[in-house]
Amino acid sequence: MTSRENIVYINGQYKPVEEATISVMDRGFLFGDGVYEVVPVFGNKLLRLDEHLQRLQNSLDRISLPNPHDKEQWCQIFSSLLEQNPGDDRAVYLQISRGAYPVRNLNIQGDPDQYPPTIFAMVLHVTPPDIEVVSAGISVITVEDFRWKACDIKSTSLLASVMLKQQAISAEVEDAILVKDGYITEGTASNIFLVKDNVLITPPTGEQLLPGITRDLVIEIAENNSILVEQREIEEAELYTADEIWMTSSTREIAPVINLNGKAVSAGVAGPMWKRVMDLYQQYKTLLRQQ
Ligand code: PDD
Repeated sequence: MTSRENIVYINGQYKPVEEATISVMDRGFLFGDGVYEVVPVFGNKLLRLDEHLQRLQNSLDRISLPNPHDKEQWCQIFSSLLEQNPGDDRAVYLQISRGAYPVRNLNIQGDPDQYPPTIFAMVLHVTPPDIEVVSAGISVITVEDFRWKACDIKSTSLLASVMLKQQAISAEVEDAILVKDGYITEGTASNIFLVKDNVLITPPTGEQLLPGITRDLVIEIAENNSILVEQREIEEAELYTADEIWMTSSTREIAPVINLNGKAVSAGVAGPMWKRVMDLYQQYKTLLRQQ
């Protein structure tokens, strides 16, 4: 094997991934009773770490799971993990579950000292986006968003997302835009932006979608460059008259959608606003690397 060793963090220890184990009674395994984060890393710099840790805290609060570490401790774990898994563009994946109880029971036991959470982190190696490839765009379909009313929690219970993504794969497209009661919520693992008459439009945050860190960064970059942004409900019908549609996430960055339900979006190529904001986003990454 020529591939480098994948060292992961599990409950205070750093181990090769093959040696990292959890109990079969772990509530993350039995119930998906856990939350996670994906933090992009450029050079050795974590993108928007404070915002990721704040979202982690919100997810933990929503499921009544105490945060096992403070910011300093998280930083220590992440930097040690990054040191042991060298590379350039990477991402830190972090997952915290409610740990293992002796019996399978939905009830939450109050004492986290007795039943400590399971803390797992690993480094994902990310191929830097080739702008030529990304600008070719992606094809998507719309699907009914049948998920629950707590999509603001970055929960490891991702069965609905797996099923929704599979609908896209079965339709031989890259991804799906989720529609609930006639309104767009988000992608299977991304947020959605529309461009109409040079205005960026994205649904407001709330229980129906995950507050994406990339989403917020795109909004910030746009506003700093005098591009108008509206955070408002988007009717499904607006997709068909949009000048541009984008999907944003830590791993996708900003992906232009060029085909929706088999029809070209506008001219069927990545639009001028995408080129502008993608360029600004890449500049932001370059500055972060140099810090
Ligand atoms: N997912 N919405 C959903 C449902 C997501 O799963 C994600 C990210 C986003 C975008 O969030 P951010 O910009 O913070 O990455 C929106 C990650 C990348 C994942 O599950 O791998």
